[in-house]
Amino acid sequence: MPSSDALVDAARRAREHAVATFSQFKVGAALETADGAVITGCNVENATYGLTICAERVAVFKALSDGHRAFTRIAIVADTEAPTPPCGACRQILWEFGGDLEIILANLTREAGRHRLSDLLPLPFDARLL
Ligand code: THU
Repeated sequence: MPSSDALVDAARRAREHAVATFSQFKVGAALETADGAVITGCNVENATYGLTICAERVAVFKALSDGHRAFTRIAIVADTEAPTPPCGACRQILWEFGGDLEIILANLTREAGRHRLSDLLPLPFDARLL
């Protein structure tokens, strides 16, 4: 398994690929699979603004597309003093595909918080309720 430092470093490197043309707010994510692989993502913005996809969802969709189905942790990095937690849409996707992940928040120089996804998304909607 990668150390949490390695996971955060992977998210920092992914952040450098962010396509943050409109907000200039670059985010990187690194998702750890149950068998120890690390799949990264960065935010990708476009001219409609609304079709922007966050770093976390890029990482999840890349991982699913590569055949990964079980996940343990995700590191999220932005260049901010206060940590950048996942948005509501990302919390939903992380929950549905990753379950109660550990969420590691960091900036460019330090780790800034750890959370369980179940604390960030209490009373979730998911397929069990269909
Ligand atoms: N963003 C992410 O990629 N992840 C987050 O956790 C928060 C927000 C992106 C979306 C948009 O490209 C930019 O940050 C500003 O909202």
